[in-house]
Amino acid sequence: MVDAVRTQVAIIGAGPAGLMLAHLLNASGIASIVVDNRSRADIEATIRAGILENGTVDLLVASGASDRVLTDGHRHDGIELQFEGEGRRIDFRQLVGRSVWLYPQHEVLKDLLARLLADGADIRFEHEAGLVTDEDTDTPKVVGRDAAGTPFELVADFVIGADGSRSIARTAVVGSQTGGYFREYPFAWFGILCEAPPSAKELIYANSANGFALISQRSDTVQRMYLQCDPDMDPASLSDAEIWDALQSRVSGTALKQGPIFQRDVLRFRSFVAWHLQKRRVVLIGDAAHTVPPTGAKGMNLAIHDVRLLHRGLESYFAGEGTGLVDRFEQVALKRIWRAQHFSWWMTSMLHVAADATDFDRRRQLGELESVTASAAGSTYLAEAYTGWPAEELG
Ligand code: DHB
Repeated sequence: MVDAVRTQVAIIGAGPAGLMLAHLLNASGIASIVVDNRSRADIEATIRAGILENGTVDLLVASGASDRVLTDGHRHDGIELQFEGEGRRIDFRQLVGRSVWLYPQHEVLKDLLARLLADGADIRFEHEAGLVTDEDTDTPKVVGRDAAGTPFELVADFVIGADGSRSIARTAVVGSQTGGYFREYPFAWFGILCEAPPSAKELIYANSANGFALISQRSDTVQRMYLQCDPDMDPASLSDAEIWDALQSRVSGTALKQGPIFQRDVLRFRSFVAWHLQKRRVVLIGDAAHTVPPTGAKGMNLAIHDVRLLHRGLESYFAGEGTGLVDRFEQVALKRIWRAQHFSWWMTSMLHVAADATDFDRRRQLGELESVTASAAGSTYLAEAYTGWPAEELG
C-alpha cells in the first residue's frame, strides 16, 4: 500500500505551463506538487521556440518569475516576410503598438525553476505519472513511480495535466490519450543552432519556390534557423554545406552569415485540440490541451494564457467561492486556442510549399502574401495575432 500525499493542486509536467501555474499558485498561498519524469538538467536543456508575446512577458515580469527576460531578452518590433527574393517588413509597433521578445523557452524554464526552488516549492523530478484516477470525485489522484521504481500517489483538490502533447492526464478527461480535433501536415522543420552573428535585425519568414525558411536568432553569437523538410527526414542526412545552400536558396534577398552548426533536429507539425479541456476537477493546459504548428510561435504563449485563466479560477475556489470560475475555464480558454489554431495554420499554409502544390496554388499563395503585406488591414491582423490578442477573463 502506497502512502498517499495530500496537496491542494497536483500538477503533472514541469514545462512552461506546469511551472508557471505552480509559481502563480505559490504567490497566492496555494500549495501544489509538480511531478515530471525528467531530471532538472533535461528540462532546462529542452530546445524550443524563442518568441514571447507582449502579454507573456508582462506576466513573467509582474509575477516575479523572470527579470532576465528584460535584460537578456531582445525586444523585436517587427518581422520580415520575404517572398520572390524581396523582404516586406511588418511593423508591429506602428500597426498595433506592441512588440514581442526573443527569449528562448529553456531560459524561461531556468528562471521559473530557480524561483520556485528558492521559494521552497515541491517539485519532484524523475517522477513518472502513469495514471490519473478518481476523476469523477472531488479528490482526483495521480499515481506513478519514481526513478527507483517506487510507487507514489498524490491526492488533490485539483489535478492539472500540463504533461505535453503525449499527455497521460488526457485519458481521464476525454477517455483516451489521443481524443481530440486533429490535423497532420505534409511537412516539418529541420532546425539548426549555429555559431554566427545575426544575419538580419529581425526574424525573416521566407516563402520560396524551394519551400519555407525561418531565420531566427538566439543571441549575438548563436542563431536558430529552420528549413521546411519532409517529416521523415533524417537530421544527419545533410552536410553543413548542403544545409547552408538550402537555407540561402530560400532567403535569396539576404546574405546569410554562416558558422559552425552544433545542433540539428526535426520538428513535426500537427494541430490538435482535445475534445475537452476539463472533467470535474481534472484540467488540461498547454500542449496537453492543444498543439499548434510552430509557425508564428504560439505554443508557449498559449500555454501561459491557459495558466493565467486557470490560476484565476483556482484562486477563486481556494478563497471559498466554489468551482464556478474553474468550471468556465474550458469555454473561455477555447476562444483563444481556436484563434491561435487558425493563426498558426494560416501562417503555415501561406508560407510553406506543399509537394503537390500546382502552379495555381503557388501563384495564389504569392497573391495572398502580396495582399497581406500591401494592405494595412492585412498586416494589422498579422501583427495583432503575432504580438498576442488581449487576455481573456473567466468572468
Ligand atoms: C522561433 C520559432 C518559431 O516557431 C517562430 O515562429 C519564430 C521563432 C524560434 O525558435 O526562434
